[in-house]
Amino acid sequence: EIQPVILSGGSGTRLWPLSREAYPKQFLPLAGELTMLQATWERVASIAARGPLVIANEEHRFVAAEQLQQVGAEPAAIILEPAGRNTAPAIAVAALEATRDGGDSLLLVLPSDHVITDADAFRLAAQQAAGIAAAGKLVTFGIVPTGPETGYGYIKAASGEGARAVERFVEKPDLAAATDYVASGQYYWNSGMFLFKASRYLQELERFQPAMLATSREAWSKARRDADFTRLDKEAFAAVPSDSIDYAVMEKTADAIVVPLDAGWNDVGSWTALRDVSQQDGDGNAHQGDVIAIDCRNTYAYGQRLVAMVGLDDVIVVETDDAVLVGKGDRMQEVKAVVARLKAEG
Ligand code: GDD
Ligand code: MG
Repeated sequence: EIQPVILSGGSGTRLWPLSREAYPKQFLPLAGELTMLQATWERVASIAARGPLVIANEEHRFVAAEQLQQVGAEPAAIILEPAGRNTAPAIAVAALEATRDGGDSLLLVLPSDHVITDADAFRLAAQQAAGIAAAGKLVTFGIVPTGPETGYGYIKAASGEGARAVERFVEKPDLAAATDYVASGQYYWNSGMFLFKASRYLQELERFQPAMLATSREAWSKARRDADFTRLDKEAFAAVPSDSIDYAVMEKTADAIVVPLDAGWNDVGSWTALRDVSQQDGDGNAHQGDVIAIDCRNTYAYGQRLVAMVGLDDVIVVETDDAVLVGKGDRMQEVKAVVARLKAEG
């Protein structure tokens, strides 16, 4: 009984100027025809017992509903947050919703901003994980790390192979620690996807974050419901402490299992990451839209109007109606600083 839960409340600032507050990356077709949200649903539709539980910001309700409808997703609910409180409360209200009629189901928690190239391998891993979660475990999907990325969670697995106990979960370590973890060969990256019984997640929250559970429950029980949306109570939700599931639960639980995942997973957090997962030509260039590249290597260009590039290496160009971004491939994390500057200048 797999119930997909799609987290769709992030802001995706590193993909500016395409990703905007009004239209963040999960609603954009960044890696193909479908938007990231649509691709997330399509990937799991065949193993889902029913339509997805989607948790999004109030502001994005129409985009979310319309995009789900376009792929025939018939959501179990679209739960709207008046303001983001990070992922732990978002998953809490999903779990409350899933246990609403006294039922229980296996929540397959999915960020809406990942690329997975081998959907079959992912579904197999999810089905394996479902058996483990049914026995009361909290399953995370582990990715073999390719470098000491500090933006990820790290999972130390018990020795052995295949699905096994998590000995330690460290969210976003510093560079020195991440370097040690990768060198040890004992750690996976946390993919950010989880599978557990709704009731089991609520138990762990009760144990580790009782105030978060109580306030989330309050906001959820006072929610206003209509045919399309479940709107969490604004005042009550504002009182919910903000934290991610990684810090709030996964670092603390003693009951986590890691299922290794080799499915071409990528968190497309930056333009460089997007280049790396896109179809590339023989020189490492990847383009979307109207682009001409002459004698270029390792470029990524996104053009709404025609973009022409000559003699460039490792350069990113993103052209939209009201802004153009040009930068070096290895500096794309700093796009955040552009957004911060724009905000400061109002
Ligand atoms: N509904 C809702 N509300 N969704 C949210 C909120 C919120 O307040 N905040 C974030 N999300 C959504 C984002 O849209 C994204 O789909 C997902 O939750 C994860 O949030 P991120 O903010 O992207 O997390 P992260 O990338 O820093 O870290 C997580 O993912 C990494 C892998 O990509 C962690 O789980 C790490 O441990 C993991 O390695
Ligand atoms: Mg992320």
